[in-house]
Amino acid sequence: PQGRVIFSGIQPTGVPHLGNYLGALQQWKLMQDEAEPDTKLIFSIVDLHAITVPRPKGLLSQWKREMIAALLAIGLDPARSTIFYQSMVSAHSELQWILSCTASTGYLSRMTQWKSKMSMSDDASLLDEKAKKGLKHGLFSYPILQAADILVHRATHVPVGEDQRQHLEFARECVTNFNHAYGVSHLVAPSTILSPSKRVMSLTNPLQKMSKSDPNPNSRILLTDTPDIITTKIKSSLTDSVNSVSWDPVGRPGVANLLSLLAHFDPAGRSPAALAEGELAGKPLLDLKRRVAEVVNDELGPVRERFEEFMGRREYVDQVIADGASDARRSAEGTMELVREAVEL
Ligand code: ADP
Ligand code: NA
Repeated sequence: PQGRVIFSGIQPTGVPHLGNYLGALQQWKLMQDEAEPDTKLIFSIVDLHAITVPRPKGLLSQWKREMIAALLAIGLDPARSTIFYQSMVSAHSELQWILSCTASTGYLSRMTQWKSKMSMSDDASLLDEKAKKGLKHGLFSYPILQAADILVHRATHVPVGEDQRQHLEFARECVTNFNHAYGVSHLVAPSTILSPSKRVMSLTNPLQKMSKSDPNPNSRILLTDTPDIITTKIKSSLTDSVNSVSWDPVGRPGVANLLSLLAHFDPAGRSPAALAEGELAGKPLLDLKRRVAEVVNDELGPVRERFEEFMGRREYVDQVIADGASDARRSAEGTMELVREAVEL
C-alpha cells in the first residue's frame, strides 16, 4: 500500500480509560509501528469537538495536557507521527465551513448520534419540544467538522470504532458533494479501518461499556491508576454468585468481560473460551480476578510511569505540540490552496 495517509482523532476528555486504550490508542501505536516508511500518520487531539458540551472553567486545558501526555506515554513517537491540537490548525474550521455549504441537512439529521440526542437527554429522559430547540448547533454539525479533520489532510485510511462508521460515510458524502459542486477531484474519499478490538465493559455494570461518563469511578480503570487501585477495582468488579470460572458471555457477562481482558493480553493469543477451559476451569472467581489484575498492571505500569514523566516535562511537551501543529498546518495547506482556488476564495 503506497502513500497511505492515516488520520485519527480523539477528544481531550482527560486521562484515558482502559476501554479507550484497548479500543483506540493501542491500535494507533500498532499502526505507527507497522506503517510503511512512506505512510503518513496524523493524530489529532480534537479540542474543537470537545467544546460542543459545556465544562467547568480550566478543565479543557488540563484535559488536553493529560491527553497529549497519554499519547506520548503509550508510545506514539512525535518523530514518526504528527500529533497536534486541532484548534491550532485553523484550516480544519475553514474547511468545515466550506463543506457545510455543500452538505445536506437531511443527511445530517439522519445521523444516529443526532437522533439519539433529539429523543433523549443525557439522563435518558425524553426531550420535550422546548429542550429539542435548545440543542446546540455544534452537536448537529460536528460530523462536518469531523469530515474536515479527515479531508483536510487527504487521509486515505481512518481507524475508528463501530460507533463512528456512519460519520465516515458522511465524510465520503462530503467529498462527493464538494467535488461535484465544483467539478474537481481535489478531495479524497477515505477508507474506514474498523477497530478490531472488542468493547471493554464497565466493571460495575458489565452490560454497559466502560465509559468516562459513568458517574461511578470504580466502573473504569484509568491509565494513571496505581497497581493497588487497579487490583481493588478488579477484585470488587461485579460478577455473579457462581463462584467458579466458566465462559458464558450471555449468562455471565461480568466473568466474560474479565476473561476477554485476560485473552486480550494473553501472550499465546488464546481465546476467552480457551482460557476458561484451561487451568482456570472451575477455579474460584478470585483466581481469575487476580490474574486479570496482574496482566493489566503489567501492561499499564510502564504507561503510568511514562505518563507522570511527560506531565512533568512541560517544555518538551510544549515543543511537541508546536512542532505537531506546524507539520499539520503544512499538511492541510496543500489541500486548502486547491480548495480555495476551486471555490474562488
Ligand atoms: P467514552 O465512551 O469514555 O466517552 P469516547 O467516546 O471518547 O469514550 O471514545 C474514545 C475512543 O475510545 C473511541 O475510539 C471509542 O471507540 C473508544 N472506546 C471508548 N470506550 C470504549 C470501550 N469501553 N471499549 C472499547 N473502546 C472504547
Ligand atoms: Na462517549
